[in-house]
Amino acid sequence: MIIFLKIFIFVIPLTSSQINNACKNFESYFNIYFSSDCFYIPDNHLSAPEIIKHHVGVFEHHKVTTEDGYILGLFRIPRINPKGVILLQHGFVQDATCWVSQYNKSIAFWFWNAGYDVWMTNSRGTFYSKKHINLTSSDEEFWNFTFHEIGYYDLDAVIKHIKLATNRSKLIILANSMGFTSSLVYASMKCEQAAENVQILIGLAPVWSLKYTKSLHKWITFPYVHFILKSGLNRVINWYSFPEHDEWMLWSIRLFNKIFPFKKLYVYLESLFYGWSKDELDPSFINMVIDHFGAPSSLKNYEHIYQISNYGEVRMFDYGNTNNLVTYGSETPPPYALENVSVPILLIYGTNDYLTQAGDIDALYQKLPEKVKVYEHQMAIDGFSHTDFYYGKHRYEMLYKKLIEFLDTLV
Ligand SMILES: *[C@@H]1O[C@H](CO)[C@@H](O)[C@H](O)[C@H]1NC(C)=O
Ligand SMILES: *[C@@H]1O[C@H](CO)[C@@H](O)[C@H](O)[C@H]1NC(C)=O
Ligand SMILES: *[C@@H]1O[C@H](CO)[C@@H](O)[C@H](O)[C@H]1NC(C)=O
Ligand SMILES: *[C@@H]1O[C@H](CO)[C@@H](O)[C@H](O)[C@H]1NC(C)=O
Ligand SMILES: *[C@@H]1O[C@H](CO)[C@@H](O)[C@H](O)[C@H]1NC(C)=O
Repeated sequence: MIIFLKIFIFVIPLTSSQINNACKNFESYFNIYFSSDCFYIPDNHLSAPEIIKHHVGVFEHHKVTTEDGYILGLFRIPRINPKGVILLQHGFVQDATCWVSQYNKSIAFWFWNAGYDVWMTNSRGTFYSKKHINLTSSDEEFWNFTFHEIGYYDLDAVIKHIKLATNRSKLIILANSMGFTSSLVYASMKCEQAAENVQILIGLAPVWSLKYTKSLHKWITFPYVHFILKSGLNRVINWYSFPEHDEWMLWSIRLFNKIFPFKKLYVYLESLFYGWSKDELDPSFINMVIDHFGAPSSLKNYEHIYQISNYGEVRMFDYGNTNNLVTYGSETPPPYALENVSVPILLIYGTNDYLTQAGDIDALYQKLPEKVKVYEHQMAIDGFSHTDFYYGKHRYEMLYKKLIEFLDTLV
């Protein structure tokens, strides 16, 4: 009997027919197949384009080639005669999926419903942006990039493409976490184009310096990758990026998650990296998050973030004294010229976010020139962690509703 039950419990979740896969409460996951709190949602098994088509009906998949040869997948939820054009730039080890992984309450849909033409990037190396004109994703050189190139090349190409496609003079950028780091690289290094093309840059849980961060990433993830790169072990096994969506480790985690009913474990683990907000995370998104986890970035990007978290300030990639001389003409890598930024900037962060700390936000704000501080320059969202911007129960009332009202006054 027990053996039969075990087989039964294993087999049920593996079949992807319409069996409950989400619950409104953490406790209900213990009784997911029978609880009236639980339901089936197809989104867990769908890709981002399928999710968009399923909920909105319209979707465009654009291809954009960067100056250095990467072929990027750029998503659009098109709108005719829009109020404005908004570009959503995801964070580290994520892709456009993060903006549409909240069922019919997805962030991208809110902007679209409010009348905006919505575009979403997929940064180089992620699933929809793994092609290059003369490299393949198994070449070491393909993965020779960090958030710097994502800003300098990807954003530049994407913004040019959107301007041509929409014939609008300026667009709004909403950038999350490391997506903001890249956006600020773009706004400082291509300051003239940015001033011409961008109406406002909004940072959601933005990352610039990581001096005050309390995230375990600083002590575990980044030092670990640093050690691997330093030892050269990765070259031996041709390992240049992490994490791949279909790798066995993530596959096992997802399988384990399907049969493991205590979903709060995820909240506990995640809070060590992104901040503790006991009741904010919406339990119905847990399986969705885990099912879609795993957009790769380069190990070099991990190393660059390791460098900024150790130096306490943001500089270009450090190749070591000798190679820095060759690359930059100085022994230390140059800092970014924030004084050249002239795009208006709005910074929004959560007070319970371990990764993005108020101290780092303040430090960045001090360094920005006065001319970018046009609108309310900082917004602290009470009780939000790093991930509550996507999965918080109150994200609409506390943030997106206000943000849309604010944008409506600009366009
Ligand atoms: C690959 O393309 C880049 C960008 O166009 C070019 O600079 C480079 O020389 C090419 N490399 C090879 C091996 O063809
Ligand atoms: C979202 O979907 C749920 C369940 O399918 C439904 O009850 C709800 O009304 C929908 N909400 C909106 C805003 O469409
Ligand atoms: C990576 O790019 C840098 C310049 O951006 C270059 O100096 C370095 O040689 C490249 N490394 C590899 C392995 O292609
Ligand atoms: C683009 O917009 C300008 C006005 O802003 C207009 O004169 C021009 O005809 C438009 N071009 C296209 C192709 O729609
Ligand atoms: C910043 O602006 C100054 C003065 O206009 C210019 O000399 C410098 O090259 C700019 N720096 C960058 C990185 O564009």
